[in-house]
Amino acid sequence: MVEVLDDPVGQSLRGAHAHLARRVGDAATYQEGVSTFVAVPVRPTAADWDDLARLLGSGGFADLFSADVTPPASWEPVFELDGFQMVLDRAEPEAPADGVVELGPGDVEEMLALTEQARPGPFWARTAELGAFHGVREDGALVAMAGERLRPPGWTEISAVCTAPSARGRGLAARVTRAAIDRITGRGERPFLHVASSNTGAIRVYERLGFVVRRPVRFHGYRVP
Ligand SMILES: CC(C)(COP(=O)(O)OP(=O)(O)OC[C@H]1O[C@@H](n2cnc3c(N)ncnc32)[C@H](O)[C@@H]1OP(=O)(O)O)[C@@H](O)C(=O)NCCC(=O)NCCS
Repeated sequence: MVEVLDDPVGQSLRGAHAHLARRVGDAATYQEGVSTFVAVPVRPTAADWDDLARLLGSGGFADLFSADVTPPASWEPVFELDGFQMVLDRAEPEAPADGVVELGPGDVEEMLALTEQARPGPFWARTAELGAFHGVREDGALVAMAGERLRPPGWTEISAVCTAPSARGRGLAARVTRAAIDRITGRGERPFLHVASSNTGAIRVYERLGFVVRRPVRFHGYRVP
């Protein structure tokens, strides 16, 4: 049996995010502007790759995220990145989520501007529809945020953690991540997240909050022939 955390995109698209999914056969992806992540069955057949090609169209971007699958040789690699999947082991009592506010549809322009500046990973106009987002404002400006992304059963992924360059090193990332942790554990789920293995600063923040590495992962994406 595949553990749900080994297929977080497929588990989300079939479950909590089914209302945001587009699919052909057993291949699925998110609606335009939400996420580029795609899912195929854990052991995909040639027919599954054909379904994904039909779903994305020729020249489309197949963002396989962390899936441990290999597309046909004719699919041109676009990117590859080593990372870690981390899970919350024990919630540390420090870093209370003081001064953190919930963000909503009216904040999307500012969220896009902050992620454009801080580059935590992919964030598009509809990404915030995936879950709840929290942030910190200083003098009215959004300077830090974190939100919810993938939702395999029993778990919620924390994503888009970022702090404006001018506001770093003051514990803001820890605070917004803590707010996300509290919200997720408050509804009886466990938090997990993904981080590039080279992002040692973010990994330190997560470890201090009680996250531990569950497994190394490889993020990868391809161009559909
Ligand atoms: C990674 C990132 C989110 C950290 O944001 P941040 O707000 O600076 O994080 P914190 O302030 O909580 O922690 C950073 C450091 O400040 C220290 N710090 C926290 N509060 C502090 C305080 N009051 N005074 C002094 N230092 C403090 C922390 O101990 C930590 O130290 P370390 O570098 O030794 O680990 C930020 O650098 C960023 O936006 N990076 C680009 C986007 C990104 O990579 N996001 C993660 C994607 S997975």
